[in-house]
Amino acid sequence: MNIGFVGLGLMGRPMANRILGAGHTLYINNRTKEKSASLEAKGAIWCDSPAEVARKTEIAVSMLSTPDVLEDRALGKNGLLEGAKPGFIHVDCSTVSPALTKRLHEHYRSKRCYFLHSPVLGSVPNATDGSLLLFVGGEEYAYSKVQNILGLFGSKIWRFERVDQATNTKLLCNFFIASMISGLAQGLVFAERNSIDPKVFLDILSHSALNAQTYQTKGTSMIEGNFAPRFFLEHMLKDIKLVLDSAKASHTMMPTAEIAEELYTKALDSGFAKEDYSAVIKILRLPS
Ligand SMILES: NC(=O)c1ccc[n+]([C@@H]2O[C@H](COP(=O)([O-])OP(=O)(O)OC[C@H]3O[C@@H](n4cnc5c(N)ncnc54)[C@H](OP(=O)(O)O)[C@@H]3O)[C@@H](O)[C@H]2O)c1
Repeated sequence: MNIGFVGLGLMGRPMANRILGAGHTLYINNRTKEKSASLEAKGAIWCDSPAEVARKTEIAVSMLSTPDVLEDRALGKNGLLEGAKPGFIHVDCSTVSPALTKRLHEHYRSKRCYFLHSPVLGSVPNATDGSLLLFVGGEEYAYSKVQNILGLFGSKIWRFERVDQATNTKLLCNFFIASMISGLAQGLVFAERNSIDPKVFLDILSHSALNAQTYQTKGTSMIEGNFAPRFFLEHMLKDIKLVLDSAKASHTMMPTAEIAEELYTKALDSGFAKEDYSAVIKILRLPS
């Protein structure tokens, strides 16, 4: 099949690579062209705009940073919809707002095209080996057409009738990540300052009902001071803000998210935007 891919960042590149690896013809576009080199070397075809990607394909996937960027790449000048023929299916996997995914769904429908939202849980290693978890919202007809492509990203897929249900499910997952990592960071610094070896504390967690895999992987990185990015800290702050907006719209109290927003804002203002989101611990290690 001819498949398009727009957005070749940390997650987009390995996901696009899996489509190529399955033998499809892949048409790609990214703001920064240099990031397409490894995929072009394997046969992917560069397009100068998302509109050109849509002209060459009937299905395109996107993995982009923020709601504004997705809206621009979909509906803006030279965006996907500009080049789409009736029946075109755009599956976006980015973490964005439910307000935007609902709007895109309506807009595509008015042009006799389809928009599915399929945000993913997992990070770069899961994007690389095809073990992401997927939440897919939108029409069954469009889903049946893209199911095999989404299966390349992960085999665990939860289906939702509406796009905003899928979008909010992903935001809920990231609320948990932000809360757990903020708590872990505070706990490790508390241990450090009270003469408890933080590695011993992680070991205690690992033997208890409190354990979570993320405590072990991110806890070890925090102790070792390894903040090589798998998920940029700036994107975590974006997601916390998206959670809070969505919570406000549904009259839900989420005070833990407000605390996480405060911590992550401080981390961003301290220059850690392009480090891994676990670098939030550096804020707590500052002398008070
Ligand atoms: N990393 C993770 O572990 C992870 C996991 C699940 C979900 N997500 C979500 O997936 C999405 C992508 O994440 P990522 O980690 O791949 O981020 P990333 O490496 O920052 O990639 C972001 C993508 O958006 C593009 N972009 C950014 N600003 C743009 C602009 N103004 N105009 C056009 N394109 C622009 C980037 O293009 P350039 O290459 O030119 O910068 C790149 O293709 C985000 O919504 C994130 O929250 C990430």
